[in-house]
Amino acid sequence: MEDRFGHRISYLRVSITDRCNERCAYCMPQELQEWLPRAEILTFEETLRLIRIGAELGISKVRVTGGEPLTRRDALGFIRRIREISSIKSIGLSTNGTLLAGEVAPGRTMAGALRAAGVQSLNISLDTLDRQVYARITGRDFHQRVLQGIDAAIAAGFEQIKLNTVLMRGRNEDQLIPLVEFAGQRGLILRFIEMMPVSTAAVLDEDNFLSVREAKRLIESVYGNLIPQSEFRTNGPAVYYQVPGRGQRIGFIGAMTNLHFCESCNKLRLTCDGKLRPCLGSSLEFDIMKPLRAGATDDELKQFFLDVVARKPQQHDFRNNYQPNRKMIAIGG
Ligand SMILES: C[S@@+](CC[C@H](N)C(=O)[O-])C[C@H]1O[C@@H](n2cnc3c(N)ncnc32)[C@H](O)[C@@H]1O
Ligand code: SF4
Repeated sequence: MEDRFGHRISYLRVSITDRCNERCAYCMPQELQEWLPRAEILTFEETLRLIRIGAELGISKVRVTGGEPLTRRDALGFIRRIREISSIKSIGLSTNGTLLAGEVAPGRTMAGALRAAGVQSLNISLDTLDRQVYARITGRDFHQRVLQGIDAAIAAGFEQIKLNTVLMRGRNEDQLIPLVEFAGQRGLILRFIEMMPVSTAAVLDEDNFLSVREAKRLIESVYGNLIPQSEFRTNGPAVYYQVPGRGQRIGFIGAMTNLHFCESCNKLRLTCDGKLRPCLGSSLEFDIMKPLRAGATDDELKQFFLDVVARKPQQHDFRNNYQPNRKMIAIGG
């Protein structure tokens, strides 16, 4: 699948729930969230059919996300079935880490079970090493659980574990160096993400915005100039650097300030309520659940995918006073 601008679409981000056990200030609206009713959520069967159809069109990488994907019952069984789709070469999962250390069977953690189910790469959110700040950002006192979850993930032997930190002025700029140390000691890739206007929360104010450039400056004031790693790419828009004198890599995701952000975009998103979204930062979305439930054939659904890809915008709309039609939690980051 190729869009009008020559982007080859090979990556599908699949959200399996809009529910979450945390309440991150930048992701959820402050007013109490009403979850979607079960009937409006794609069943795993339906989601797998859409992944298979995407795979036939060239999707080779799937990342499972949410909400918090591990809050959905039998997320593991679902992931095992993704692995059965032979042209999906890579399965990733984005998680807040709170449930990774939980035991799913005697002697087996959720992290271990995910690895065994075929997940190769894990993205774990961690905005701070301070328990109180963590509770303030996420609305929950789960910091200890997340740290245990990270240990469980390391023990499970994933091919790649990345820690994702959303940058927030006034909340976590004093945490950047401790986070670099934490990731370095554990051999994990750390990425700093600019806050995007994807919720209605007050935290998404300009006063709270901290750019990747400023974060990089703060880090360089301690470690010296970071060394660009232009040959190192994961599947996303992060720009990577090496910390001088160490093998450690850190990445910066500057959706708001990096003007080249969209140039290598290879993604399509499927929301848990069956909308295909060609871009995170655009209100465009197309309801594939409707034809799916009305009995569309595989060929018809393939055409639907192709039509969505044909409407993929050249770049996101975040810099144009973007007003989200959907909150991050309901898109799947
Ligand atoms: C929506 S979450 C879903 C997966 C999982 N619950 C988690 O927290 O990792 C995916 C990623 O989106 C990020 N995110 C949420 N809201 C954001 C915002 N307003 N700007 C930038 N990143 C955001 C989170 O920090 C997380 O790394
Ligand atoms: S960022 Fe992840 S953990 Fe936080 S509220 Fe959103 S979905 Fe939940």
